[in-house]
Amino acid sequence: MEKELNEEVLLPTDTFASEIDAGLSASPKAISSRYFYDAEGDRLFQKIMQLDEYYLSRAEYAIFKEHKELLLQYFADQRTAFHLMEFGAGDGWKTKVLLRHFIEQHAKFDYRPIDISGNVLQELESSLKTELPSLQVQGMEGEYFEVLNQMQKTDGQRKVVLFLGSNIGNFRQHQAISFLSSLRASLNQGDMVLIGFDMKKDPHVIRNAYDDASGVTRDFNMNLLKRLNIELGANFDLTKFKHYQSYDPQSGECRSYLISLAEQEVTMQAIGVSYYFKKWEPIHVEISRKFDFETINELAASSGFGVVKNLQDTDEYFTDSLWVAT
Ligand code: AVI
Repeated sequence: MEKELNEEVLLPTDTFASEIDAGLSASPKAISSRYFYDAEGDRLFQKIMQLDEYYLSRAEYAIFKEHKELLLQYFADQRTAFHLMEFGAGDGWKTKVLLRHFIEQHAKFDYRPIDISGNVLQELESSLKTELPSLQVQGMEGEYFEVLNQMQKTDGQRKVVLFLGSNIGNFRQHQAISFLSSLRASLNQGDMVLIGFDMKKDPHVIRNAYDDASGVTRDFNMNLLKRLNIELGANFDLTKFKHYQSYDPQSGECRSYLISLAEQEVTMQAIGVSYYFKKWEPIHVEISRKFDFETINELAASSGFGVVKNLQDTDEYFTDSLWVAT
């Protein structure tokens, strides 16, 4: 790899450019999946969630439909008031099942979705205003733990934090423990979290969910390269890369790669750097881990939580695990 720094453009605060640079300079090459989500990435992810093959969202929706009353009983223990917080709520499709039921039951709660994107929050708040006008909503813009820590100082009310969709699966085990331990440190004893876990199952079902027949997941992955072309002035030729998905049933690791179909060099103008790719060289772009109850218990115990209840859909594809801060 050749490196010529263009100091005019590479600012020390530009973590996007410097993280991409670090990932493409590393061996093996890797880019974090959090860079999937520009506006086009958000749109494609919404499409993924509607795919027949992508069972995750439907399974979690079914769990909420079936167990909304039980969840309310746990969340509002002895009918105490609580803040229902949500990390990365998106369009709130699944959460609205709970919100609607809680309102109908006159539960004492408010809903506080947390997101770093003010736009996402505005859209969610405006749809909630129309669909559930009596719901008290307070969108909180910022990093998850900063927002929780701020509340810690000002507010003694019980918190229940939703972290749904098996977003936890996009972390490796040590990253997940570190994330959940930070979450625990921002909570008080007795606060609760509800975490969505995609479970180990027939490996073909999992592979198909990440390699759908209509190619939406392929487009979602390839959009990362488009994003680098647009935002960092890269010259990735999209016809010279392909999406490849693997699933290891032992570790439960489902991995996405972008594979270079030729020996080639790609330049990123924004930082004045070129990257060399061998033919068939992969860029690892995402891990979507699949879980079993052993791993879920281990995660809870190592990060300061106790498992209260595991709720599953009828196929046992997905688990929403309710934990209490111990
Ligand atoms: C956001 N996350 C939980 C999704 C997943 O299943 O890992 C992202 C995704 N990647 C490909 N399809 C969906």
